Amino acid sequence: MSVIIRPVQKKDKEKWFQLWSGKEDSYLEFYKALDKVSDETSEYTWSRFFDDTVPIYSIVAEVEGEVIGFANYLTHKNTWTVEDALYLNDLYVSNKNRLKGVGRLLIEEVYKQADALNCNKCYWATSFDNYRAQLLYTKVGVDASKKIYLRPPR
Ligand SMILES: CC(C)(COP(=O)(O)OP(=O)(O)OC[C@H]1O[C@@H](n2cnc3c(N)ncnc32)[C@H](O)[C@@H]1OP(=O)(O)O)[C@@H](O)C(=O)NCCC(=O)NCCS
Repeated sequence: MSVIIRPVQKKDKEKWFQLWSGKEDSYLEFYKALDKVSDETSEYTWSRFFDDTVPIYSIVAEVEGEVIGFANYLTHKNTWTVEDALYLNDLYVSNKNRLKGVGRLLIEEVYKQADALNCNKCYWATSFDNYRAQLLYTKVGVDASKKIYLRPPR
């Protein structure tokens, strides 16, 4: 399978949205979050990938002209370093294209982008029970052994 990893382009909108918020085989559906992220928010996120003043980015995986996965990431200031840090916010590969190395390729490209953006820290989070993702993460990263806490709902 020949996979191209590249920055998202405006022409990818329909397929990217399908993978992001489609009713089936999408990232928000995987996280049971279709009702938590409004269409307006998704549109806003999409528009910011193309805004040079906002450090939010998306790369996509393309196979035979079809977008089959994405990684969304952002950079932010860090009190521990002069350089910014890069946070991998979202990673998704469509069902039928999994276990073919695409997730790994997306993460490896994120590492390259971290270098290009001079971010020496590159990190992400996953759920304790997302074992499948962790099978990949233990190969491409190191376990930070941290928990994430959230402010309670108000
Ligand atoms: C997590 C996800 C992005 C991984 O994508 P993928 O394209 O299937 O991942 P890859 O094929 O690159 O890597 C899978 C790795 O896990 C390993 N793996 C998978 N299942 C395995 C198993 N049962 N036993 C051992 N290793 C296994 C593979 O060997 C592979 O390692 P390799 O690159 O050394 O061969 C994809 O499953 C997905 O989109 N899941 C739903 C959304 C999600 O969980 N996103 C992440 C949120 S944090």
